[in-house]
Amino acid sequence: MLFLSACSSPGDGKSDGAAASQDVAATGHDGKAIYERHCMMCHSMAPPPVAAPPVRGVSYHYREAFESRDDAVAHMVGFMKNPDPERAVCDPEAIERFGLMPAMTLPDDELRAVSAWFWDQYDPAMREMHRKERARMQQEH
Ligand code: HEC
Repeated sequence: MLFLSACSSPGDGKSDGAAASQDVAATGHDGKAIYERHCMMCHSMAPPPVAAPPVRGVSYHYREAFESRDDAVAHMVGFMKNPDPERAVCDPEAIERFGLMPAMTLPDDELRAVSAWFWDQYDPAMREMHRKERARMQQEH
C-alpha cells in the first residue's frame, strides 16, 4: 500500500510557492478535482444556482460563521456526512428552496480537502450578491 507521507501540519510554512497545491500537499487530495467530480452537478461556482447554493455563497456563509478555516472545515465535513438543518450555516431559505443536501460518502480526507477548497473560494463581491439574492428569495414567500 502506498503511504502518503506528505501529511504536513497546516501552517508549517512548507510552501512550494504554489498556493493552489497546498491542500494537495496537506491531504494528498485536490479539492477542486473532488468538487468537479462530486459537487459541481448541484453546486455551481457562482449564482445562478443549479440545485444548491453556489460555492461562493457557501464560502461566504462559512466566513461569516467561523473565524478559522480549520473550524469551518471541521463543521463542513460533519455537515456533509450527516446533513442536519439544525447545523446548517446557510440561510434556512436555502433548504426550503433546494431541499436538504444528501449525505456524502467520501472518505474523511477527501471531505476535508474539498471543504478547504470551498472555504478558499470566498469572493468579497458575494456579500452584495447574497444580499440581493436573499431579498429576492424572501419576496417569493
Ligand atoms: C445532489 C445535490 C448535491 C450534491 C451532489 C452536493 N450538494 Fe452540497 N448542498 C446541496 C443542497 C441542496 C444544499 C442546501 C441545503 C442544505 O444546506 O442542506 C447544500 C449545501 C451545502 C453546504 C452548506 C451546508 C450548510 O452549513 O448550510 C455545503 C458546505 C455543501 N453543500 C458542500 C458540498 C460539497 C463539498 C459537495 C461535494 C462533495 C456537495 N455539497 C455535493 C446539494 C448537493
